[in-house]
Amino acid sequence: MADNGRKFPAIEPYRVKTVERTKITTRDERMKILEEVNFNVFAIKAEDIIIDLLTDSGTGAMSTEQWSMLMRGDESYAGSPSYYRFENAVKDIMGFSEVIPAHQGRGAEDVLFSTIMQPGDVAISNGFFDTTAAHVANNKGTGINIPVLTKEMYFKDGKFKGNMDTSQLIELLNDGSKTVRFVLITVTNNIGGGQPVSMANIREVSAICKKYNKPLYLDACRYAENSYFIKKYEPGYGNKTIKEIAREMFDLVDGCTMSAKKDGIANIGGFLCLRDNELATLCRQDLILKEGFHTYGGMSGREMETIAVGLYEALEESYLESRIGQTAYLGKLLADAGIRIIKPTGGHAVYFDSTSIVPHVPPLQYPGVAVTVAMYLEGGIRGLEMGSVFLAKQADGTEVPPKHELIRLAIPRRVYTKSHIEYIAAVIKYVKDNASTLPGFKITWEGNNPNLRHFTVKLKPLAPINSGKKHSRKTEDNNNMIKSV
Ligand code: F0G
Repeated sequence: MADNGRKFPAIEPYRVKTVERTKITTRDERMKILEEVNFNVFAIKAEDIIIDLLTDSGTGAMSTEQWSMLMRGDESYAGSPSYYRFENAVKDIMGFSEVIPAHQGRGAEDVLFSTIMQPGDVAISNGFFDTTAAHVANNKGTGINIPVLTKEMYFKDGKFKGNMDTSQLIELLNDGSKTVRFVLITVTNNIGGGQPVSMANIREVSAICKKYNKPLYLDACRYAENSYFIKKYEPGYGNKTIKEIAREMFDLVDGCTMSAKKDGIANIGGFLCLRDNELATLCRQDLILKEGFHTYGGMSGREMETIAVGLYEALEESYLESRIGQTAYLGKLLADAGIRIIKPTGGHAVYFDSTSIVPHVPPLQYPGVAVTVAMYLEGGIRGLEMGSVFLAKQADGTEVPPKHELIRLAIPRRVYTKSHIEYIAAVIKYVKDNASTLPGFKITWEGNNPNLRHFTVKLKPLAPINSGKKHSRKTEDNNNMIKSV
């Protein structure tokens, strides 16, 4: 973990009170499991995973304060006190007058977009997350991403690589042939390597949107992590609290959608915030149809209680320093092992280029699958392929590989320790050192939605993965490594 000039190493600002036991499988068991699931790690049962880095969403560990609040949950259909505690916390932190609960982030997106959008509209973002893009499309609109980050910049260092390109924004707003319905800034920018957005960029986008009279929203899922990066790296913010910085971000926008599964440190839940009372009234009507009455919106009272506490815990600087330090530490260990990572590491995940491990596997033999399968086989680790299986399939049935074959290692909040992080890096280094015999894959079955095929795709290796004797000694080493976790 980063030293930051302190006398002693930084530590996790929590201790363990209850543990969830991990089943330590053997390599042979994992090989069998991989065959059973047709080499699609989405289909592996979670209990057969040693370290699960598929997502940081809803996978965080709740605190004793959050667990204790569960008993306080009031499950009244209308007007639950749990709702008002949740609403007060959101208003106190974010400062919006209208708070509309939803079952998770995508529920909030659905309600907002279907209320404000007309067919043919354009919506602009630094990076629409996939469900967000899907909701824009579902309302017959077109989402346009205008990040400053070009694909060439991915693996080079830089600050605030999550920013929106404001000159492109002005160009789009000046284009009379398009009806731009809204602008949305995603903090941090999940589809762009989890990179943060600067306050200066949010301020500039806000001024442009005001000038052109367009509403500006935040996709605020990881707003606390973004605020931490602003404190650390943007001049003038070093002495402000995370809460003050977060409020300054929210003060620049007209509303936000939020998945409480991220910086709410809750297992489920979300909300929509607005300033416009008339729009909020329309959204609440839609909410009743889709999510539930507007004092629960698909959440139970106990979930709203855990969010009311978790939102504050996610703003604690010692927590953010430890969390973002953990991500940076994993990134450093991987980079030191010669793996090409997106630099600098963002808040919630390390993204790396699978072709830096298997350069001999061409894109349409799915190098990301070769590596995610090997990570599971050798160390029971599950990561997310964000390469050709995820992104190559086009609506016309052809496959066009994306520019980079990325794998995302998303780190759940307060779940894994420093030795887990070191284990992950050791496994991936081992995979890299023994990668020359890893085969590519072919798809044997896929569903008919090109955007969703990665969830259910079936695959087959183009050559046996097990290179027999050559691997047997290493397997022993690997099992020793597992035992030492
Ligand atoms: N926006 C962003 C930036 C997200 O990362 C997500 C979810 C959502 C919206 C949707 O929120 O899941 O509560 O409906 N991201 C998860 C991930 C699933 O793994 O990155 P949700």
